[in-house]
Amino acid sequence: MDPIIDLDFIDNRTPEQATAAASCDTKVSVETNTGKTRKLYIESYGCQMNFSDSEIVSSIMHEQGFDTTSNIEHADVVFLNTCSIREKAETTVRNRLGQINYYKRKKPSMVIGVLGCMAERLKKSLLEEEKIVDLVVGPDAYRDLPNLINEVDGGQKAVNVLLSREETYADINPIRLNSNGVSAFISIMRGCDNMCSFCVVPFTRGRERSRDAHSIVREAEGLVAQGFKEVTLLGQNVDSYKWESEDGTEKVNFAQLLELVAQLSPDLRVRFSTSHPKDITDEVLYTMKKYDNICKYIHLPAQSGNSRVLELMNRTYDRAWYLNRVDAIRAILGEECGISSDMIAGFCSETEEEHQDTLSLMEYVQYDYSYMFFYSERPGTLAARKLEDDIPLEVKKRRLAEIIEKQRECSLNRNKLDIGRMHRVLVENFSKKSADFLSGRNDQNKVVIFPKKHYKKGDYVNVFVNDCSVGTLFGEAVN
Ligand code: SAH
Ligand code: SF4
Ligand code: F3S
Repeated sequence: MDPIIDLDFIDNRTPEQATAAASCDTKVSVETNTGKTRKLYIESYGCQMNFSDSEIVSSIMHEQGFDTTSNIEHADVVFLNTCSIREKAETTVRNRLGQINYYKRKKPSMVIGVLGCMAERLKKSLLEEEKIVDLVVGPDAYRDLPNLINEVDGGQKAVNVLLSREETYADINPIRLNSNGVSAFISIMRGCDNMCSFCVVPFTRGRERSRDAHSIVREAEGLVAQGFKEVTLLGQNVDSYKWESEDGTEKVNFAQLLELVAQLSPDLRVRFSTSHPKDITDEVLYTMKKYDNICKYIHLPAQSGNSRVLELMNRTYDRAWYLNRVDAIRAILGEECGISSDMIAGFCSETEEEHQDTLSLMEYVQYDYSYMFFYSERPGTLAARKLEDDIPLEVKKRRLAEIIEKQRECSLNRNKLDIGRMHRVLVENFSKKSADFLSGRNDQNKVVIFPKKHYKKGDYVNVFVNDCSVGTLFGEAVN
């Protein structure tokens, strides 16, 4: 998923970097002081779906009498909204629970809850494994939080990990915790019906369901009215979005939903993530082409460049199909359309030649960037049950390093093509390095840094790019 969307890509960093990343990538509550009597502190891990869920949880808890706090020591209730995608994601949460124990000892009344995918995967065994946990709540059970909190207040431990076929939280107005006031995320669907053999998501998030299109458009309208300039439509597989009204008179597919949101305002940028290569249609590509405000950037995870490995992964497409989709993107949207990927190194039985196929696919596509991982076996998945995790860790790591190196080359090639051109940049913040510079993103989702002059957060600025690094474009604002 997107940079901010998948925050657990620490497998490819040094332990020092991983620690730094884990602390800055983890999203923590903001302060909402509306005079409520109790305080909630919530930390989110994993993908953007989880971050978006934390905003729903905060809204439900707000109704129940909680403001959010960014200071854990002020909290009456502490929630960790967790991820299970790789073993490391779960280890991070367990380590964090160890640290939180310190605060709980100082304030024994503090309620500790584990939410999200790890809660769903481990269910009530989490209560036995992690003694400080009072509450275990799966991703489809957040409406039950008020009851569960009452149970805990009454001195019991509480668990609800029921998955639902209908829940989309469509009517809940999220409290924007993770926002810079410029861009926001809108969940358009939940769950996943694909059964990629390596992946835990179908088990932790349940069956795929699409949210009422009207409620999505209303949420986007509300954001426009509040001055937001960019929305990202979120789902594990947005191209299979399909909503039908109860009386069957209205049917909306993903291309149509994109169009409805894009029509709200020409000043609203529309992004989406994640696209599945088996489902992305030419209709979606033509809709992107038709609207200037739909960003020309597609996250299209390949996972591997080899057809046999893709089959073992149960991705349901092969290399030729994937390349055909990339060619369609280039033909319809042009060379400048940004494409990114997720890659897994060292999946079960992957040979050196098959690994080389991943590198050659990357060379062909010239991804703008990728999220790269080595394979981490997850209990209960198809791969864990049927395939042997037989690639030694050193080999996985070496292959991952080669994939990362190839991506650096591709990113630099692609960024160099952006030099000498004007880019429309939506300003999101000050540059991390200096308050004299602003940071924003161009249409292709690349970070662009330029001297501030009189510009500010939320402005669209034309920036002439004159330099680049592997991860960033640099330029000057032009009036
Ligand atoms: N729905 C998205 C992926 C969501 S998970 C899609 O289909 O593309 C984000 C990424 O984590 C995946 O694309 C995959 O590259 C990686 N991932 C998932 N399970 C993994 C595992 N067991 N080991 C290593 N990486 C994994
Ligand atoms: Fe996991 Fe595959 Fe679903 Fe993505 S499409 S969430 S990788 S099962
Ligand atoms: Fe997301 Fe992690 Fe769950 S990637 S869907 S939070 S397992």
